[in-house]
Amino acid sequence: MMSHVIIKGTGSYLPENVMSNDDLSKMVDTSDDWIRTRTGISERRISTGERTSDLAYEAGLRALKSANLKPDEIDLIICATITADSFMPSCACKVQGRLGASLAAAFDLTAACTGMIYGMVTAEQFIKTGMYSNVLVIGAETLSGALDWEDRSTCVLFGDGASAVVLSRSDSGGGIIGSNLEADGSKKNLLTLPATTMLNPYVDKDIEDKQYKISMQGQEVFKFAVRTITSNIDFLLNKTGLTKEDIDYIIPHQANLRIIEQAAKFCKVPVDKFFMNLDRYGNTSAASIGIALDELVASGNLNPGNKIILVGFGGGMTGGSILIEWV
Ligand code: COA
Repeated sequence: MMSHVIIKGTGSYLPENVMSNDDLSKMVDTSDDWIRTRTGISERRISTGERTSDLAYEAGLRALKSANLKPDEIDLIICATITADSFMPSCACKVQGRLGASLAAAFDLTAACTGMIYGMVTAEQFIKTGMYSNVLVIGAETLSGALDWEDRSTCVLFGDGASAVVLSRSDSGGGIIGSNLEADGSKKNLLTLPATTMLNPYVDKDIEDKQYKISMQGQEVFKFAVRTITSNIDFLLNKTGLTKEDIDYIIPHQANLRIIEQAAKFCKVPVDKFFMNLDRYGNTSAASIGIALDELVASGNLNPGNKIILVGFGGGMTGGSILIEWV
């Protein structure tokens, strides 16, 4: 019999520095009212120097503590990020070293804002096959360093942060009972962040720095997001034979209040089942779903037997979801 994969611990970490909508309106032609009504965001955290691996380490440490595991009990660390401090070493290796998780393998993966879902589903496979018992999955980003701070259509949306979950093998029931990953590379231009310039002796290119920042076709991304949330919820309910009424909480990627409201309408699920904290953090990309999960756990409102859907969407384009029976 295949083992069950449960969430044994959660953690999150946000930089202290708060940037309000009013702060932003001093930098670009925007207003608190525009940002609130179009996105639901009031403020976000912006790093004053901490790098992605610093945030990732803090979130990882907290998740280990909540799982009651020692660093050397972790078999694998996966860090989902599109803003790693360096390509080499990976963010996961930096965290592995700082935690002293000396027995853990470590790698990064990129699936943009779907990163936490891709990371958790990857971890699930390693545990189900029996290869590993405890995997630390981290979603961490400092998107503030990837934004064009003169582009009001993107810089108001994002924030920095990190989250982590420990996934572990369990012989009793519950845990992850359904999951889905998807990608649509034909929409690759909707949301982009170029990694590096191609400069070698045969290439002569003079590219503006701005090309190395996030760019986005907002309305197309909006539609993709609504469709992805809706279809993933339908898919998981079909796959598991559960009904909307069986689901206690849905944690969507925290991009925009209107995306979530529209998806709730299309799925015919009451919007108050959708957990939201985007008003305080904006879109923290791979970190957002884990930060929300950690806050839901901390609120004490999650009880054994509750069913939760985590659902993400992001650049690539990518999408994915997980249905969990809380234990
Ligand atoms: N402040 C003030 N005005 C702004 C603005 C800002 N920060 N950003 C854009 N505008 C302006 C536009 O220039 C436009 O002006 P115009 O009508 O004079 O041309 C107007 O507001 C409307 O812009 P539009 O792009 O049509 O707004 P929208 O209702 O589509 O909202 C987004 C824009 C970005 C909020 C919305 O498209 C969105 O949320 N998309 C998804 C983005 C996302 O979640 N990305 C990450 C996914 S992982």
